[in-house]
Amino acid sequence: MGADAVTAHIPLLDLGEQYDTIRDEVDTAIRRVVDSQRFILGAEVEAFEQALAAYLDDGREVVGCASGTDAILLSLKALDLEPGDEVIVPAFTFFATAGAVWNAGLKPVFCDVDPAHFNLTARTVEAVWTERTRAVVAVHLFGQMAVMDELVALAEAEGASVIEDAAQSIGATQEAAGRGIATALSFFPSKNLGGFGDGGAVTSADPEFADRIRKLRVHGGHKMYHHEMVGTNSRLDALQAAVLGAKLPHLTDWSGLRQLHASIYNEELEDVPEVITPFAHPGNVHVYNQYTIRARRRDELREHLSEQGIGSGVYYPVPLHVQECFAALGGRPGQLPVSEGLCAEVLSLPVYPELGAERLLRVVSAIRRFYA
Ligand SMILES: Cc1ncc(COP(=O)(O)O)c(C=O)c1O
Repeated sequence: MGADAVTAHIPLLDLGEQYDTIRDEVDTAIRRVVDSQRFILGAEVEAFEQALAAYLDDGREVVGCASGTDAILLSLKALDLEPGDEVIVPAFTFFATAGAVWNAGLKPVFCDVDPAHFNLTARTVEAVWTERTRAVVAVHLFGQMAVMDELVALAEAEGASVIEDAAQSIGATQEAAGRGIATALSFFPSKNLGGFGDGGAVTSADPEFADRIRKLRVHGGHKMYHHEMVGTNSRLDALQAAVLGAKLPHLTDWSGLRQLHASIYNEELEDVPEVITPFAHPGNVHVYNQYTIRARRRDELREHLSEQGIGSGVYYPVPLHVQECFAALGGRPGQLPVSEGLCAEVLSLPVYPELGAERLLRVVSAIRRFYA
């Protein structure tokens, strides 16, 4: 190993490295679309939707759309709720989860999460449930599913719906998992299956619900210039579908490498008392879109890693209930202590498939040196 390799920068994610391994397949797929000059929906998108449904193999239809944010928004619109109805979302998630609720004309109600696996639970949801609660958006954060059975049972008992925000967890599974009416996926470039731009999909086991999403993504009707409902323009474009279709056959291997890297980190960091490694809930297959530790003196550690040329990320620094734009909802510091604590402690480390053990061990050494 030369000196360059020892000192080379280790980014949090390197999409260029991934592209280098699949350049021909992706370029061929892009060329196909350019030659066809069919850019919106069409055969390319349908082929990808079918390939993804086969990959997921969970009996759900796949409907492509413009982004993960839109996948949540369209799913909420398809529920046909009343303006101001309450939708419970975790406070510890990416903004889009709650932004979509707001943009659907509904009221986000923030709940806390579990400190071990970072997802909401039936208990944290129950704590904020009111008679106006009509839905829950269960985020499957960082690559593992929220514990669904008890959550679905709670919602069903109250006549409410569950939507799964699986933007970060494509391919994650759970033993005996109850499922929501819809699952939102994101193909943002940094996701485990990422396009060359924005993209998303809704999956549903309910053919009628899937059909509503298909209408909503093209302004609310199947017949041109006839609109049964007010939808929007949220289509997956053919170039994205072609890129995603070329990448999909690699997804299982990529998830396997993420899992391998996570297991090496878990082992190597086990005896560092200042670090809590991520907890995979029993029965969950975790696909590690992020490998997120809880670290003492997190900001100093991050600075130290940066000085060593190692990238890391803080997802997320501010919980959603205290975001400025939601001030009118009355959220206040101290209200959701687990989410607030996590925002001060979490740090995501490089875990991408091409990282390899050698670079990973450099990250580990840098962490160990920091706490030595
Ligand atoms: C948990 C979560 N929900 C929703 C989204 C939104 O996805 P997109 O960026 O494709 O709109 C993301 C993506 O960053 C996410 O991480």
